[in-house]
Amino acid sequence: MMEGKVGVGICVLLLLLMCESTKGRFVVEKNNLRVTSPENLKDTYECAIGNFGVPQYGGTLAGAVVYPKTNQKACKSFTDDVSFKFNSGAGLPVFLLVDRGDCYFTLKAWNAQKAGAAAILVADDRPEPLITMDTPEEGHARSDYLQNISIPSALISLSLGEAIKKALNKPDMVKVNLDWREALPHPDDRVEYEFWTNSNDECGPKCDSQKQFLKDFKGVAQILEKKGYTQFTPHYITWYCPEAFILSRQCKSQCINNGRYCAPDPDEDFSRGYEGKDVVVQNLLQACFFKVANESGKPWLWWDYVTDFAIRCPMREEKYTKECAEDVISSLGVDVKKIQECVGNTGADAENQVLKAEQKAQIGKGSRGDVTILPTLIINNRQYRGKLDKGTVLKAICSGFEETTEPVICLRDG
Ligand SMILES: *[C@@H]1O[C@H](CO)[C@@H](O)[C@H](O)[C@H]1NC(C)=O
Ligand SMILES: *[C@@H]1O[C@H](CO)[C@@H](O)[C@H](O)[C@H]1NC(C)=O
Repeated sequence: MMEGKVGVGICVLLLLLMCESTKGRFVVEKNNLRVTSPENLKDTYECAIGNFGVPQYGGTLAGAVVYPKTNQKACKSFTDDVSFKFNSGAGLPVFLLVDRGDCYFTLKAWNAQKAGAAAILVADDRPEPLITMDTPEEGHARSDYLQNISIPSALISLSLGEAIKKALNKPDMVKVNLDWREALPHPDDRVEYEFWTNSNDECGPKCDSQKQFLKDFKGVAQILEKKGYTQFTPHYITWYCPEAFILSRQCKSQCINNGRYCAPDPDEDFSRGYEGKDVVVQNLLQACFFKVANESGKPWLWWDYVTDFAIRCPMREEKYTKECAEDVISSLGVDVKKIQECVGNTGADAENQVLKAEQKAQIGKGSRGDVTILPTLIINNRQYRGKLDKGTVLKAICSGFEETTEPVICLRDG
């Protein structure tokens, strides 16, 4: 599979482990692409927001479409191609139109950005409902450029792609406007958001970018929460072991509470390093930390806990332990006993109320859809799409306030 593609969910990656939500419903987050000229194409079309780059939540971006003469799938760098020049003809930002296929969506976006495009439109290569373009899985691609993608991306339908190409051929200038103003609901003066995360700290670029995000976003998150502008809840995905396999080596190593709550082995090797069940226990400690802190009226302490834990208890220093976690908990002045009660006996054949609730929350309700990509941010009950970085996420959260009720922090850089 040459594309970063989602929809199948992470559950199938795991030998023997299954998701609680077997009838997965993946929701593709969409926004609007308005064609403002030529006359015969004037309309508003749906497009799917890519799960990388920087979507302009709350904003719009206008430009003119360019379809390259060669390298139409944008799998190669455009700088090698001297005959190619980006010029929309009117000094407008360039929306580079490229075709789906042959390489990762992210590589197309990176090549477009390097060549000066302001946005990339990927035309689907088959008639089908729009999908979400995602980043490649770990180990499948060079990833050093992923975090550097700063242009927004959108997948458009095969038919719209064909119509635009036809117009450009005439030649007509095709002017478009990407509109993210309604990408998130913005009903009132408080934004509810969730971060679906994982305490596993050794999974390559995905874990690294998650750790970096938590660190970078902590300050803003805590201000918003303390002032009551937001209500934040962290969530943890767990799997369960099918009945027949509870005594298998895989389930014993990856699950707690007799196969009820499982996580994939961090290094995919059952005989060395940390096991899946170590990850579940840390996830449970984090979830319990939030519960206890929230009950004491200080939910924002969770951000201190997870960032301190990442620094003080990393897997690679073999400090990813319950003892290390408890040291961090007490250093934050939170009652370790209460957390231990919440965690309970993980070796027992019994339910854990916190993880049970987490498994239930995993199944999508209403417009949200099941959470299948980790990490995932949900803002006002919609899945955020785009790069996990402070400015981009803050912009998205800010677009979730009813007009004129956004906090000052949202108005700072326009
Ligand atoms: C990505 O950006 C970083 C920081 O600006 C830079 O050091 C790095 O070389 C860039 N990577 C690529 C592939 O351009
Ligand atoms: C956190 O506390 C608030 C206020 O007491 C409550 O409404 C909310 O449901 C709590 N969240 C969780 C996940 O317990």
